[in-house]
Amino acid sequence: MDVDTALRTRGSTRAFLNRPVAHEMVATLLEAARFAPSGTNIQPWQVHVVTGETRERVCREVRHAAAHERAQHKAPFDFYPTQWREPYLGRRRACGWGLYSTLGIVKGDHAAGLEQELRNYDFFGAPVGLLFFIDNDLPIGSWLDYGMFVQSIMLSAVSHGLATCPQYSWSNFHQVIRPILGVPESQTLICGVALGYADPAAAVNSYRPTRLPVEEFTSWHGNDV
Ligand SMILES: Cc1cc2nc3c(=O)[nH]c(=O)nc-3n(C[C@H](O)[C@H](O)[C@H](O)COP(=O)(O)O)c2cc1C
Repeated sequence: MDVDTALRTRGSTRAFLNRPVAHEMVATLLEAARFAPSGTNIQPWQVHVVTGETRERVCREVRHAAAHERAQHKAPFDFYPTQWREPYLGRRRACGWGLYSTLGIVKGDHAAGLEQELRNYDFFGAPVGLLFFIDNDLPIGSWLDYGMFVQSIMLSAVSHGLATCPQYSWSNFHQVIRPILGVPESQTLICGVALGYADPAAAVNSYRPTRLPVEEFTSWHGNDV
């Protein structure tokens, strides 16, 4: 598969088949992604692959925390703006309602919305969870490196017939996850990725958010191209 096709066909998958992913396959994706660029080649990534009983434990404990003690848990960084404004607010709403409409969730149905949110903490049924940590003392440039690394994993996954969902949500529960995986306080949980085989029958996977046309985010300068 060429890179452009992988870019265009990758989509956030929120329902997976109950089909295992071979250890060698996960290793293949990481083997490809390790060639991602990073400023001065510092390679700031620390990846935890969770499967089997560890995956079950992470999901069980985080789901419990999310359902019963949500107020006590928060990511140690702002992922979203603290003050939403246009045009981002409108795009965010369109994404949320588009997703909910594929699930038949109507405005005001907070219980159904919460249930969908809690599916994050089952990796949407994916058999493999990837949790990405970074040393706390690495600044924003390394987070930029990290995005390239995570996208590399997701594109490699597409090229091997696998599906993914990047998940910020796990960061809120870093205090629950860290002791299970033995990760020191000196590292931050940036995000997770659910990895597995997409369930083609699940309506939620049919949702494809729109994108801006190139002209809306590009200013061309000069006249050589
Ligand atoms: C860093 C990052 C974190 C995300 N976190 C979540 C999440 O916690 N839960 C979720 O359902 N989707 C999450 N998403 C998926 C976005 O909603 C999705 O990428 C966006 O709507 C565009 O859709 P697409 O990925 O299908 O193209 C995240 C995406 C990124 C890049």
